[in-house]
Amino acid sequence: MKRALLIIALGSVCASVPAMGQTVVGTSHDMSSALPITQRVCVFCHTPHQPEGPPQINTDPLWNHTLSTVASYGVYSSDTLDAVPADIGGLNTVSNLCMSCHDATVGLGSLYNDPNIVGGEETPTNAGTVISGNANMGTDLSNDHPVNFIYDTALATLDGELVDPAGNPTAPPATWLFGGSVQCASCHDPHDNTFTPFLIATNVQSAMCLTCHLK
Ligand code: HEC
Ligand code: HEC
Ligand code: HEC
Ligand code: HEC
Repeated sequence: MKRALLIIALGSVCASVPAMGQTVVGTSHDMSSALPITQRVCVFCHTPHQPEGPPQINTDPLWNHTLSTVASYGVYSSDTLDAVPADIGGLNTVSNLCMSCHDATVGLGSLYNDPNIVGGEETPTNAGTVISGNANMGTDLSNDHPVNFIYDTALATLDGELVDPAGNPTAPPATWLFGGSVQCASCHDPHDNTFTPFLIATNVQSAMCLTCHLK
């Protein structure tokens, strides 16, 4: 209902904008005015042609941003953790897509297929500045919520305080998991900043956390 009202409100402000509830345009993930490749929004992350690769990997949605070469990010561990996260260093998981900017080792404008250059895939250049401030996660993920591990019925049973992700109406939606695994995009939607900072759902009263955790 709220969303419907928002669409009506946006629609009346600017009739040329299509009726969408949310978009990456205008968020801090819209780098179109800050960097030299102006008037393109998706291009900092995706390209319709000649993306990262080959080979193309399922977790790379036509990926255009130069991937980081960090070999190891470390892995979260604790006495109570049941999951077995794998280090994402050197991999192509969805979390690596995020870290291609957020580990601050690759310039924000470093692309595989720069639309300013006619032709196919270019040799990536380290164009532009790297990310800074709070958004700089650095190259150590050992003190962050674990990512890159399988979250399934077996893990929920083992832990005893996780929502069973399978066949359960209150389970996290299938779109939160990537090949059954928890990644950065299990909690963040890079295209939608409705729930700041780019959260995948409202976290008022920790609702997002409680979608997975029975606490
Ligand atoms: C700051 C980086 C970033 C920008 C900008 C961005 N995307 Fe994405 N996009 C991602 C990442 C990361 C994924 C994979 C994770 C996911 O699916 O949430 C993705 C996944 C997708 C997917 C496949 C999964 C799905 O959600 O359907 C499509 C389609 C897509 N993006 C389209 C777009 C379009 C169109 C734009 C421009 C209007 C855009 N993206 C801008 C980062 C970005
Ligand atoms: C092409 C580069 C790029 C990619 C890829 C990218 N981001 Fe970002 N992200 C940025 C920039 C630039 C900002 C704005 C930083 C600032 O405000 O200083 C940002 C901001 C954010 C913020 C808000 C930070 C804050 O302090 O408010 C979050 C959360 C975030 N990104 C998460 C993600 C996640 C999760 C992914 C992958 C699904 C991702 N980003 C992929 C460049 C990127
Ligand atoms: C379990 C859920 C979850 C996962 C997984 C997750 N985040 Fe977050 N992230 C959050 C929440 C909630 C916030 C806001 C609270 C805060 O500011 O710390 C946040 C904040 C951020 C910020 C803003 C800066 C900051 O520290 O506040 C960035 C950037 C970010 N996340 C990027 C990422 C990236 C990149 C990954 C994957 C390596 C990731 N997140 C994985 C839940 C998550
Ligand atoms: C998409 C599902 C999902 C979301 C959303 C999520 N988590 Fe998790 N989280 C998990 C899973 C699965 C584990 C692994 C638990 C285990 O193996 O013990 C985990 C691990 C943790 C751990 C480490 C547990 C330990 O034993 O060391 C903490 C703490 C935690 N999450 C807190 C949070 C908080 C706080 C939020 C919200 C900001 C959140 N999680 C959001 C799925 C999620």
